[in-house]
Amino acid sequence: MHILAFGASNSTTSINARLARHASQVMATEIAKGAEIHVLDLNEFEMPIYSPEREEAHGIPGAAHAFHAAIQKADVLIISYAEHNGSYTAAFKNILDWTSRINVNVWQDKPALFMSASGGEWGGGTVLATAAEAAPYLGGDVRAHLAVGPWQEKFNETTESLSDPELIEKLRDGLKLLTSETLPA
Ligand SMILES: Cc1cc2nc3c(=O)[nH]c(=O)nc-3n(C[C@H](O)[C@H](O)[C@H](O)COP(=O)(O)O)c2cc1C
Repeated sequence: MHILAFGASNSTTSINARLARHASQVMATEIAKGAEIHVLDLNEFEMPIYSPEREEAHGIPGAAHAFHAAIQKADVLIISYAEHNGSYTAAFKNILDWTSRINVNVWQDKPALFMSASGGEWGGGTVLATAAEAAPYLGGDVRAHLAVGPWQEKFNETTESLSDPELIEKLRDGLKLLTSETLPA
């Protein structure tokens, strides 16, 4: 099995990237043993801000094609959304917009775990709800979702793993749902 994981943030110290990495490691060690993990860094997909005129003049940037190809290669997706002002980060939204111009089926029907993390009590629950609601229109097959907050209370920064027993359980249950009807490991 090939796991594609990323934090939907361009912060080089992204807590969402850390959460996505942790979840993919739990998946590869406990649920789909031996699965291959590919962690994307959104900074490698930086593009001019989408505009119809830019698309008309220059076409779709190679980075959007690379993002689309990375999803194509994956069997399952583990994505953790950073919340900026109640929504996606501009960095992620720009990648989403460009990639949707290749094919609106951005998530390519891959089983997905959607998460979010923030220092606030809701753990980025607003962007998570937005992402989950939009997913069916973007070819998403979201099997489970999980909001982690407040980050400092729910994530152990020494062991790089969730510390809240309820969230640990929820994560395992969500990851198990990714394995049904997917390709054998
Ligand atoms: C411009 C901006 C807006 C933010 N808006 C929210 C918000 O609406 N809700 C929230 O819980 N946290 C908000 N935060 C805090 C982020 O969730 C926090 O910075 C988090 O670390 C971002 O995730 P990342 O580390 O993966 O980039 C905001 C931070 C910034 C810089």
